[in-house]
Amino acid sequence: MAMDAEQITVEQAMQTMTNLVQVLKAAAQDYHNGVPSGLSDAEYDAQLAQLRRLEERFPDLVQTDSPTRRVGAPPTGLRPKIRHPIPMLSLANAYDEGDLGEFDGRLRRFLGLPGEAIIEFTAEPKIDGLSVSLIYEHGRLATAATRGDGSIGESVLDRVSAIGDVPTQIKDAPDFLEVRGEVYMSKADFAALNLQREAAGESLFANPRNAAAGTLLRKETVSDETGLRLFAHGVGKLSERLAPTQYDMMQRLEAMGIAITPHIEICLGVGELLEHYHSIEALRSGLTFDIDGIVYKVNSLDWQMRLGSSSQAPRWAIAHKFPAETAWTRLVDISITVGRTGALSPVARLEPITVGGVVVSNATLHNEDFVRGRDSAGAKIRGGRDIRAGDLVKVIRCGDVIPRVDDVDLSKRSEASLPFTYPTHCPSCGAPARRVASEAATYCSGGPSCPARNLEALKHFVSRQAFDIRGLGGRTIELFFTEGRIRTPADIFSLKDGIGETLAERKGWGEVSAAKLFNEIDARRRITLDRLLFALGIRHVGRIAAEKLARHFTTWDQFSATAHGMAQGDAEARSNFESIAGLGGVIAESVSEMFADEAFIASSDALVAHLEIEAMAPNAVDGPLAGQVIVFTGKLETMTRAEAKGRAESLGATIGVSVTQATTLLVVGADAGSKAQKAEAKGIRTIDEDGWQTMLASHGQS
Ligand code: IVH
Repeated sequence: MAMDAEQITVEQAMQTMTNLVQVLKAAAQDYHNGVPSGLSDAEYDAQLAQLRRLEERFPDLVQTDSPTRRVGAPPTGLRPKIRHPIPMLSLANAYDEGDLGEFDGRLRRFLGLPGEAIIEFTAEPKIDGLSVSLIYEHGRLATAATRGDGSIGESVLDRVSAIGDVPTQIKDAPDFLEVRGEVYMSKADFAALNLQREAAGESLFANPRNAAAGTLLRKETVSDETGLRLFAHGVGKLSERLAPTQYDMMQRLEAMGIAITPHIEICLGVGELLEHYHSIEALRSGLTFDIDGIVYKVNSLDWQMRLGSSSQAPRWAIAHKFPAETAWTRLVDISITVGRTGALSPVARLEPITVGGVVVSNATLHNEDFVRGRDSAGAKIRGGRDIRAGDLVKVIRCGDVIPRVDDVDLSKRSEASLPFTYPTHCPSCGAPARRVASEAATYCSGGPSCPARNLEALKHFVSRQAFDIRGLGGRTIELFFTEGRIRTPADIFSLKDGIGETLAERKGWGEVSAAKLFNEIDARRRITLDRLLFALGIRHVGRIAAEKLARHFTTWDQFSATAHGMAQGDAEARSNFESIAGLGGVIAESVSEMFADEAFIASSDALVAHLEIEAMAPNAVDGPLAGQVIVFTGKLETMTRAEAKGRAESLGATIGVSVTQATTLLVVGADAGSKAQKAEAKGIRTIDEDGWQTMLASHGQS
């Protein structure tokens, strides 16, 4: 299909380019997989040349994954994706001694330790950088990847290999060694880089962390002298254990030539943790790099293994954050915003103030109770002080979290000020505001007919982690919404039928941008189930829950059948849903609520009709118990219930709360109740605690 670039229309160019990219990518893939490709070398080159010509003529249509950007070209920032062998999790946070005491207590309960036992920890600075995973195969640095979404990151091998703290070859390493660490930039290199950028008329980085991120991920080729550094703080997957303790393991990494987090100390119990916290806090300003807290880790690696992780964070570690930055400023006004779930949230409009180096002019006021200074039961919040427009308020900013108002100075309050009256009706649609008994939030009762809620829901629908339709940014979608062209997600997919002909003639649009938008929308007709579930904006269903649901149900039909079942009060559907590991009754409730809403059903049916939904593979958990759904009942003598569940999960099993069709194994402890009979009636395999111990031992856990 030879076409002269001079004579074709944008639509034809786009079509041809899409085809060429597909054909060339498939050929390249075949080549890499050692499969004979349908293209001869000469054909490949000719097609690539044609694609290049078209791309020169229509630069806006260049696809980000175009093969012209890779073959023989310098690195461009198009980084291959890498799946982490073990997910990269985050850390739970502690802010004070009380939180630390709770952490210590949780560990004791989980491990079943006596009250007088003192737990040995390591304590080290929390580096304010970007997490990376480095994989050494037979001592050679084979991959380096960013954290990404925790499961899949981007390759940064080129940049990381150039960091002096990272050897590309190590002696005495296990065959497979995954090192986890933090890429950062020193305070001095950050200042020098900003000076350079200022001189070159480029925008400045706000802090060393952003500078490190910008340098690590930037597109152009860079010299070796990037200013990036790395500290290792742990390991991921290993072919063999390096040492029996966290501390000794870190020493082994250091002996291999890898830079490790400095100031690691062994601490006995919470008292010593606090001492080390204060000694590092005192060093903080003199350190050459930014830190934002101290990380405490259980020192014994056997205990770390027993404790395992929740879906978010390891149970054996916690980050003790330094206090947040605070500032006092005037509260100009309180406005109410309507969120995508209909929540009516108060927002503080502030006299702009710098809090820890960032200018803040809006901050959250959380909810109605927080503004009133009393919770729904009448108990005092903040000593019962309410917050009013005109007040002097304390603003807190903690890392990247949205700034929040924390307190008010009543001595500076004007006598003329009036208490804030929370709206009784939604400011957007006028429907009565409704309090949910179990929550401090107030909701608009207008349902999907509320315009502000709908608009927010649409913005969420097209956002990065949902359908990722970049051409429909905030203002564009607002415009189409106001015009009534896009009211529900389904309307996005019929937008072309409505204004396909005329969009290019509108102000601010052209043939290229209009074609690009429709192209983007078309590309999203094929979508993975987890993105769809997240995009629907079901209350409490964030990305992680959406992925769990998608991997559990694998297809839309199976998910929606269960959701409809729950909405109609089917107890079996509900119990199946609630047995999905890590998701509780709260999500089951909001899914049922959503699927009981006629308008939602109509809107999601209309949407799904436009889509080709990619089924998801069931949870790709490794482990000998993968696919098993285990229920524990009765009292276990040799370990706590929490540990038993944690261990089962670490071997790949899913934990159920009650015996259902999905249950594959029931572990019965002492004084078990009716579950054992129920399991027997259903013919489900049942074992006692000895059987459970034998099972653990047979999988290398004892
Ligand atoms: S240990 C989560 N130690 O903080 C797995 N993490 O907020 C155990 N971080 O993603 C991490 N300094 O990238 C650990 N000394 C340190 C750290 C550290 C910085 C990062 C890490 C993690 C993030 C969690």
